[in-house]
Amino acid sequence: MDVDLSKKVALVTGAGRGNGRAIATTLAANGAKVVVNDIERGPAEETVTAITENGGSAHTIAADITDEAAVEAMVEETEQKYGNVDILVNNAGVSGAAPMIAEPDDELWSNHLETHLWGSIYCIKHVLSGMTEQEYGKIINITSIHTKNGVGFTPQYDVAKFGLLGLTKNLALELGQFGIRVNAVAPGHAKTRMTADLSPTQRERITDQNPLGRFAEPEEIAEAAAFLAAPASDYINGHELRVDGGQAPIVSFQE
Ligand SMILES: NC(=O)c1ccc[n+]([C@@H]2O[C@H](COP(=O)([O-])OP(=O)(O)OC[C@H]3O[C@@H](n4cnc5c(N)ncnc54)[C@H](O)[C@@H]3O)[C@@H](O)[C@H]2O)c1
Repeated sequence: MDVDLSKKVALVTGAGRGNGRAIATTLAANGAKVVVNDIERGPAEETVTAITENGGSAHTIAADITDEAAVEAMVEETEQKYGNVDILVNNAGVSGAAPMIAEPDDELWSNHLETHLWGSIYCIKHVLSGMTEQEYGKIINITSIHTKNGVGFTPQYDVAKFGLLGLTKNLALELGQFGIRVNAVAPGHAKTRMTADLSPTQRERITDQNPLGRFAEPEEIAEAAAFLAAPASDYINGHELRVDGGQAPIVSFQE
């Protein structure tokens, strides 16, 4: 299987920790030059240090992906440093969704829609000219187990992730003719900051409904992203790859 990424340039958003850090380090371990983006500089620099200590090539760009001017500047800096982006992983994400029935909270809705959706749209928009010019690109959107069936009581997160899945399916149809594949990885519950605050009841519900009976290691999510980034998956387009241990849909996060 061809997973050689040695001539490839990857941009991974939200790569200062969790799934993004694992994706960045895995792509780098397979030879890619990786731009490590995060809104927080310190964690992004720690990811870059981990990559370079392992003999890889990486560069930090601290930028808020919800700010289009910052995304445009990030892509320009990437192109100047390494050349056109071959692999874009839209991974940056936020949690903290709240039930609709509680307090309507516009700020919460905006945070989810801007980070998961608009952030991904800006990144795709600004890498596209480089990808179309070279007639090659891999765009990987990190969706979620929530796109299996929705999970009650987290509407902001689910609407944003279903939107990202829609973007994946739609752009796969439009961009395939330019050699650009657009796919998604849908992680199950992984051991990251995002799941650190789940209550014991929620954890039990998740592991009880998972045939493997455990959360994922971020590296297990990263291997799937690396496959979709690699030449081995060049004929896969518009696909959402579930990496969730075969977990049954969770109906609700209500305690
Ligand atoms: N952990 C899970 O169980 C799980 C399950 C399904 C999907 N996911 C998805 O995986 C992705 C990564 O999640 P994680 O669990 O590693 O979370 P995490 O909280 O550990 O990491 C998310 C990273 O994104 C960064 N980020 C947030 N907003 C940003 C912005 N505007 N610009 C740039 N960076 C920003 C954060 O600083 C952080 O470093 C997310 O899209 C998440 O929805 C996670």
